[in-house]
Amino acid sequence: MSKGKILVTGGAGYIGSHTVVELVEAGFEPIIIDNFSNSKESALEGIKAILHKSIICHTIDCTDAAALRKVFEQEQDIQGVIHFAAYKAVGESVEEPLKYYHNNVGSLVTLLQVMAEFKVFNLVFSSSCTVYGIPEKLPVTEQTPVQKANSPYGNTKKICEEILTDLASSGNSNIKSIALRYFNPIGAHPSAKIGELPLGVPNNLVPFITQTAAGIREQITVFGNDYDTPDGTCIRDYVHVVDLAKAHVVAVERLLQNKAESIEFYNVGTGTGNTVLEAIHAFEHATGQKLNYKIGPRRAGDVPKIYADVTKATEVLGFKTTSTLEEAMQSAWDWQLSLQDNTAKV
Ligand code: UD1
Repeated sequence: MSKGKILVTGGAGYIGSHTVVELVEAGFEPIIIDNFSNSKESALEGIKAILHKSIICHTIDCTDAAALRKVFEQEQDIQGVIHFAAYKAVGESVEEPLKYYHNNVGSLVTLLQVMAEFKVFNLVFSSSCTVYGIPEKLPVTEQTPVQKANSPYGNTKKICEEILTDLASSGNSNIKSIALRYFNPIGAHPSAKIGELPLGVPNNLVPFITQTAAGIREQITVFGNDYDTPDGTCIRDYVHVVDLAKAHVVAVERLLQNKAESIEFYNVGTGTGNTVLEAIHAFEHATGQKLNYKIGPRRAGDVPKIYADVTKATEVLGFKTTSTLEEAMQSAWDWQLSLQDNTAKV
């Protein structure tokens, strides 16, 4: 018997698709919503190949209240929602801020209104370590002050957290939310049937690494080596996407077991910071591929160093990461190779 229906917005996306798989493995019945603006239907095929069953997917936009209502009407007994659906390209958000505010903030507000109408009171929200800005002290805990966002994208995450906080303190909402502040998700499912699918030139480090190693990009540029870090390159906390996906499952369980406060925040990372060069070397070491990289100028808006204190997620959610950086890199490479196999077959 299923532990309950969980609506997963953005369920065909990178983190969403991995979470759908982990939800099923944990006994839940996920229902996907996606508008495929930054994902492909092939993700659904990948999920099906892993689980040996199809997952229902409603192709709608989360800013469309009428369409959302129809899904809630059609799918009786939704126990909770995991809201991934959002745009996430930092640079694009600077150029098109309204697109980001409309989609990221608009979809959360619409979703919360429809959830309340249908008496669905449990929400897991995709937040980001970007809310900490350039932190004064490392590692960052959930008490580390939130700072002015560096980009409209970052601001949408901050505003969405504030919306959830305001709702929680309004005293007249039954909705409980857990906001997971992701550090840097990387890697892919060990089956190599789902993974990150950047449309166009990747913005993020790991897809750029794997595409360079695969010969799709000629060279990768390391954005700056004059930061105040051991090798001068930026520090991030790279968390395997399957570990991150599992954090959503434990968050949902906490909500359904009625253990959560009206709003809770958790850092989801490994607790370890790695430089860009360490990440590149971990990739090379794990896969045996030599990467063609060069050092270039800093990228505007980059945070010099950030990594998580994950004590709260460990103690309260029982969250534990199990994958090393090298394992994550190997899985990202396996995924890249499987993408090429598929392209070759077409
Ligand atoms: C940022 C945000 C994160 C957000 C994500 C969405 C922070 C700390 N993180 O991640 O919250 O969810 O964008 O996309 O603000 N790099 C290179 N060369 C490349 C690509 C990246 O050197 O070609 C370096 C970057 O300078 C950075 C690291 O790799 O130091 C990771 O970059 P990226 O994968 O883009 O993620 P963040 O910028 O950390």
